[in-house]
Amino acid sequence: MSSILVLNGPNLNLLGTREPAVYGSATLDDVRALCEAAGQRLALGVDFRQSNHEGVLIDWIHEAGLAHRAGSLLGVVFNAGAYTHTSVALHDAVKGAGVPMVEVHISNVHAREPFRHHSYLSPAAAGIVVGFGIDGYALAMEGLARRAAAAKGA
Ligand code: DQA
Repeated sequence: MSSILVLNGPNLNLLGTREPAVYGSATLDDVRALCEAAGQRLALGVDFRQSNHEGVLIDWIHEAGLAHRAGSLLGVVFNAGAYTHTSVALHDAVKGAGVPMVEVHISNVHAREPFRHHSYLSPAAAGIVVGFGIDGYALAMEGLARRAAAAKGA
């Protein structure tokens, strides 16, 4: 079965208690369950991970590039948290790995502080889903599945 890697960056382990007025009350486990349900609907496996460490996220993206080339991974759904706004290294990792990546943000970053308006990941992304709450993860998964089907001519 083909699969999708869902990556979560720093502080997303705190979902549920972290700024609920911004991020809602769902926990990261709730996000995992939502992604697994979307995976079942799409007949895709889901590998769901979170790290607070930039280098770990980079290693996982490299791994995803290899799996994509081997044909076992459609792509990556990536909420990089604050690294979105700071990390040239994550931009380079996505470009270098050559894996399709959909950038996700739970909140509408463009309606928030100016420092959240710039993303180093967007120029490397196949698509972006912003501001739909945790549903954005499922929307991004659907987008990756449709993109892969279109590429196959299905
Ligand atoms: C976030 C938005 C980022 O600006 C922030 O640093 C996060 C979460 C979101 O999902 O809305 O950690 O990526």
